[in-house]
Amino acid sequence: MTDWHAWHDAYDRPGSTLTQRLAHVRDQIRSALDALPPGPLSVISVCAGQGRDLIGALDGHPRAGDVQALLVELDERNAAIAREHAPGGVTVLTGDAGLTDVYAGRAPAHLLLMCGVFGNISDADIKRTIAFCAQLCREDGFVIWTRHREAPDAVPWISTEFEEAGFEEIWLSEPGFITGVGVHRLRRPALALQAGERMFTFV
Ligand SMILES: C[S@@+](CC[C@H](N)C(=O)[O-])C[C@H]1O[C@@H](n2cnc3c(N)ncnc32)[C@H](O)[C@@H]1O
Repeated sequence: MTDWHAWHDAYDRPGSTLTQRLAHVRDQIRSALDALPPGPLSVISVCAGQGRDLIGALDGHPRAGDVQALLVELDERNAAIAREHAPGGVTVLTGDAGLTDVYAGRAPAHLLLMCGVFGNISDADIKRTIAFCAQLCREDGFVIWTRHREAPDAVPWISTEFEEAGFEEIWLSEPGFITGVGVHRLRRPALALQAGERMFTFV
């Protein structure tokens, strides 16, 4: 069993893969916030961990005050750390992010974070979860996702799955970068959130 609290320690090691990934993810969050329309902005983070990506990206960003975010994280220790650092407007829910019911009243969001999920679930669940992203993300909203590049590299397939679900690829980290970071935008009306469904289970 992975200790998901200790997993975050790599964020504190300068130059670690996770630190480099974090820089990409924060940059992409800031770019998405810059591109979104004026007014309130909704954000959902699935398996948010300690929330380092969103909370760091909001720090000093001009749209930070517009953001209403829901971070869903199962590990109580990580959720407590996220809560401790979360600015106003950011709610941290300790719960199972694989269940659609936790997003009732919050979906579809302008920005959906799916970071550190696709490396921990089966291919069938990746496909299923991407289909549900069209319920969690609003039309012209962004999803920012990550997946390691270990062989066989699943990043191109994941990008194609997003496209088949109605998303447009906006940005993909270069293949040489050790972790894949992708940004897609939903180019169709969001689908209604299906209650009582399980999107994924960590393996
Ligand atoms: C690889 S980490 C990614 C954390 C964060 N998104 C990031 O990129 O820094 C995966 C996180 O998912 C959490 N997790 C695992 N299963 C979960 C579930 N069913 N619901 C919510 N969180 C879950 C773990 O506790 C862990 O914090």
